[in-house]
Amino acid sequence: MLEKIKQLSAEISGFNSTKLEEIEQFRIKHLSKKGTIAALFDEFKQVPAEQKKAMGQALNELKTAALAKVNELKEALSDAEELATGADLTMPGEPMRLGSRHPLSIVKNEILSIFTRLGFTISEGPEIEDDWHVFSALNFPEEHPARDMQDTFFITRHPDILLRTHTSSVQVRDMETHPLPIRLVTPGRVFRNEAISARAHCIFHQIEALYISENVSFADLKQTLTYFAKELFGADTQIRLRPSYFPFTEPSAEMDVSCTLCHGKGCNVCKGSGWLEILGCGMVDPNVLDLNGIDSKKYSGFALGMGIERIAMLKYGIKDIRLFFENDIRFLEQFTAAGI
Ligand code: DAH
Repeated sequence: MLEKIKQLSAEISGFNSTKLEEIEQFRIKHLSKKGTIAALFDEFKQVPAEQKKAMGQALNELKTAALAKVNELKEALSDAEELATGADLTMPGEPMRLGSRHPLSIVKNEILSIFTRLGFTISEGPEIEDDWHVFSALNFPEEHPARDMQDTFFITRHPDILLRTHTSSVQVRDMETHPLPIRLVTPGRVFRNEAISARAHCIFHQIEALYISENVSFADLKQTLTYFAKELFGADTQIRLRPSYFPFTEPSAEMDVSCTLCHGKGCNVCKGSGWLEILGCGMVDPNVLDLNGIDSKKYSGFALGMGIERIAMLKYGIKDIRLFFENDIRFLEQFTAAGI
């Protein structure tokens, strides 16, 4: 039997072919159920016990060699086929495309990092809210137009449940749960029942900041805004505050920054005015503090809120808000985050 194994072993190692048919015949001859190796395994049953170990080993080696031979020849064959079709096997593999950060995430992270450097902590709240957190606790009068069906997405079966129209609702949740002093920034998605156009979308993103402590003054707000604007748009950026109205702040203001494109000279981005409107802000209305269980005689605070899309559009010169939501890779891969 050892003689047979040696003979077969020589035959197997000497075999070579570049034809699939011949390789297949070789496989059937030696490795099929009725093949030479299977026959030897049958014979092996009669081998005396003292020879079993050596013989078994030789037989197993033979089988392994036969299998390896078949695989090796088949592989060489498929490589040769690829060559015949003109494929260049030395070419590097398909490159994997690396993802990039969404421009809204880049701008959001930049804004959050400015506020966290000032000691603010990030806080988030739910997108599906109730009337109390979005309107009532923020001092919105019953007849305020923001409550109107035109602006707010309500849930038909539960008129008290709605999609938040601003992240100011998170201020209310923060006042409920956080111990004083409060110094929080709240990024999030907001929803308004608006017709979609180049300038408006029914879904967009805001960032809100809230600071409540003893002796917080308008000067603190102005200083924070100045620092924020210079960090975000550059050290030579000027700010101006215009009186405005929000139900939850008194006094209220809107902040403009000197136009990032023309630096105040007047261009078509700032419509000749030299200024760009960036955010709303003000001193938290004492009514809001009282409505949320904070003693307005002892504590005061400021709040501010801005739309991330608007800032990203100004920063990158994007003309159509819809681009942020279409996920076209040609648009998305143009933005790179500086170390964030
Ligand atoms: N919630 C306002 C809006 O969505 C933005 C805003 C204005 C937020 C003034 C504030 C603020 O915190 O103080 O238009």
